Amino acid sequence: KADTRESLYLVSEYANEYFQKTLHKTEKGKAIGLSYFKERGFTEETIKKFQLGYALDEWQVFTDEALKNGYKIEFLEGTGLTIVKPDKHFDRFKGRVMFPIHSMSGRVLGFGGRILGNDKKAAKYLNSPESEIYHKSKVLYGLYFAKQTIAKEDNCYLVEGYTDVIQFYQRGITNVVSSSGTALTSEQIRLIKRLTSNITVLFDGDAAGMRASIRGIDLILEQGMNVRVCTFPDGEDPDSFSKNNTLQEVQDYLAENSKDFIQFKASLLFEDTKNDPIKKAETIRDIVNSIAKIPDQIKKEVYIQECARIMDISESVLFSTLAQINKKES
Ligand code: CTP
Ligand code: MN
Ligand code: MN
Ligand code: MN
Ligand code: MN
Repeated sequence: KADTRESLYLVSEYANEYFQKTLHKTEKGKAIGLSYFKERGFTEETIKKFQLGYALDEWQVFTDEALKNGYKIEFLEGTGLTIVKPDKHFDRFKGRVMFPIHSMSGRVLGFGGRILGNDKKAAKYLNSPESEIYHKSKVLYGLYFAKQTIAKEDNCYLVEGYTDVIQFYQRGITNVVSSSGTALTSEQIRLIKRLTSNITVLFDGDAAGMRASIRGIDLILEQGMNVRVCTFPDGEDPDSFSKNNTLQEVQDYLAENSKDFIQFKASLLFEDTKNDPIKKAETIRDIVNSIAKIPDQIKKEVYIQECARIMDISESVLFSTLAQINKKES
């Protein structure tokens, strides 16, 4: 079992070297992959740091090369890098730029691969499947590079995607990680909690996505961590914003626009529902549900007072709602 895992690590490391070599040393890699990254504003240093690569648009060049080098088909299949059918095998990643996903100690666990351009027919990102070494719910993209600054700054920025992490890092904000498109899990939060109790969640500037992710944030409160949130202008994400602004401008933006999560949620929901009494009642329950997750009694009280003010309702209603929720859960 331990041997299997070690073999999967070795195959992944080989693939990581292979995709990087393809990016830097082949004509197609340079013309297609490298120029794509450069157009996105990534420097040579950043590309090397994050070990970005390219997978050729061919059926099985990677798998054949790996087999020739002595890597076994069962481990190629075990990492999901090769798809094996009864009479043939082929590469999972074809014609994509590659983002290796590292463990906290820097071992390669899997990959995200992005199509070039905005072809709507294929999924924009294709990711390695779960495997014996890659458990998506327990990994945060970028944590290997970010862990020291997270501890030093005593704060962690949580962004939506691979490129947000990379562009922020390049701009000089290096305490940044991503759950990479999957819903945030308690295990991922615990990884951050070992380093800091402060998280700032940065949302892409699209309202729908933000409203969908808000629910996951209760998981952070549950662990007694302090949560702030920051949104970006419509159509922007941390990647585009930090690409188009200086470090000072990005830092100023974050300082001016980060808000305490409970206050943010209360204001947002209040704006959405203030003219509809029934919806407003649901909103109150929703926000008190979030407050109920906070382990600290004093913080709970302070938030109740704050929300009563924001939502223009009496504290006693909120306290009794809180009592109801606590009763239901015990
Ligand atoms: N994602 C995914 N599969 C998709 C779309 C998104 O796994 N089909 C994940 C990726 O990790 C992606 C993250 O969700 O980085 C955020 O999605 P999105 O904001 O759509 O992508 P960006 O990171 O902004 O990517 P890009 O700038 O390259 O378009
Ligand atoms: Mn395991
Ligand atoms: Mn998004
Ligand atoms: Mn995005
Ligand atoms: Mn983006």
